This record gives sequence, structure tokens and C-alpha cells, in this order.
Amino acid sequence: MLRTDVIQKIIDKKKATRYLEIGVNNGDSFFPIEIAHKVGVDPSFAFSPERKLEWAGKNPCNVTADYIDATSDAFFAKQPIEKFDVAFIDGLHTYEQSLQDVLNTLDNLNDNGVIVMHDCKPPHVPAAFPAPSLQAAIDLNMGAPGWDGIWCGDVWKTICHLRSNRKDLRVFTLDCDFGLGIVMKGKPDIDLNLTKEALDKMTFADIEAGIKNGTENFLNLKDESYLFEFLETI
Ligand SMILES: C[S@@+](CC[C@H](N)C(=O)[O-])C[C@H]1O[C@@H](n2cnc3c(N)ncnc32)[C@H](O)[C@@H]1O
Repeated sequence: MLRTDVIQKIIDKKKATRYLEIGVNNGDSFFPIEIAHKVGVDPSFAFSPERKLEWAGKNPCNVTADYIDATSDAFFAKQPIEKFDVAFIDGLHTYEQSLQDVLNTLDNLNDNGVIVMHDCKPPHVPAAFPAPSLQAAIDLNMGAPGWDGIWCGDVWKTICHLRSNRKDLRVFTLDCDFGLGIVMKGKPDIDLNLTKEALDKMTFADIEAGIKNGTENFLNLKDESYLFEFLETI
């Protein structure tokens, strides 16, 4: 299942009206989403005026959408902000920034709101390379074995962090589209208690090993079909 299918199904089930996307790039995920009001935040939008116009024709929600040319931190710093029902976090792929984006979004989310995070289960270890930016990841990884240009960074650590430190949140990862982290207010279904030191030391190879041998499910990974069970609860 693609991220856009998951996001749209959540929006439809909740009859949500307000959508936030952090990290829009060329609009592959933002433009198809159908909802009354949507806000896209990116310091470097990567679509042409022609593409924007084309999508305004295909999906009228794009005509009234707000496009905020800023980093997520700058966007959230300008309070007050409207409250959102559903948010998709797909900006800078670092542990620190994705965690900050989740925390800021939670502060601006309606009580039953849902956050979807991209890139929580990289397809392989090189894609999980921690780097301060996409360009740095490319520069550092060029020619490394297994590197194919896909970069999810260490966003997966944010899932482990939230599961270990926020017992007021329901957090799991759908096993599709590079791992879609789902975060909402509520009781965790399974406990995880990693210390800061343990998480700092962890690598994505540990996550992969845990998944392969079934010893530890750090990401609370669920088959994509679990989405339908989840939808019944929101
Ligand atoms: C992977 S792309 C987003 C792709 C898009 N969501 C999709 O699914 O097609 C990541 C985007 O995040 C943006 N970005 C990088 N740092 C950011 C930040 N601090 N705040 C918001 N967006 C950021 C980049 O400019 C880039 O366009």
C-alpha cells in the first residue's frame, strides 16, 4: 500500500478536514490528497508552476491549499497555528528533526488526530545511514556497497524513542512504503523501554536482526493489512 492510500483512508474514516504535510518536494504525496483544507511546508518546494496548475485541475483541493515556504521549525515557531486532524511527516530524515516534527505536530493536533511518518523502515542498512541532509548522505555513501540512492536516514529511531518515552502515545509501523509510522494519543499496545544510551548505540542492523529472528520488534511493525483493524478504532 502506498503512503497516499494510507493517509487518504485515515482522512476518509475520520471525516477529517485539516491536513498538514511536512516535506512536500514535488507534491507526489501532497497533490493527490483530498480534504477540505491542506497545508504543505517545505523550505525547497520542487514542483513547477505547470505541475501545480495541472494538479489544481485534477484535484481542486490544491487550489485552496496553503504552501508554506519554510522549514518545519520556522513554521511551528509562528504561533498560533490551526489544529490539524491528520499530518504526514516527511521532511528532514534525521532522528532529531523527525522527533521534533512529531512533538511540534502533537502540540498542534486535534485530540483524536493521527500522524503518519514516512521512512520508518528503510529497505536496507545503507538507506538508514545517519546523515545531516540528503546531500550529505549522497556524498558520504557514494560508491558504498548496497547504496542505491534511497535515503530514509535514522527516522526509525524516532519510533523507538516515542515508544520508550511517551507512554501516552499509540505508536506502530505499517510494513509498507518504507515503513509508515503511525502516532496518535492513546495507550501503547506493547511496551518498549530503551534507555537513551541503548538507543544512541543502536543501528538499523539491530532492527533488521530483530525483525528477521523475531527476537525484538522495536518498530512495533505490523503487516499493512493491520491498517483496516486500526481504522475501526479511530
Ligand atoms: C522526501 S522529500 C518529501 C517527499 C514527499 N512527501 C512525497 O512523499 O513525495 C523531503 C522534503 O523535505 C524537505 N525538507 C528538508 N528539510 C526540511 C525541514 N527542516 N522542514 C521541512 N521540510 C524539509 C525537502 O526540501 C524535501 O522536499
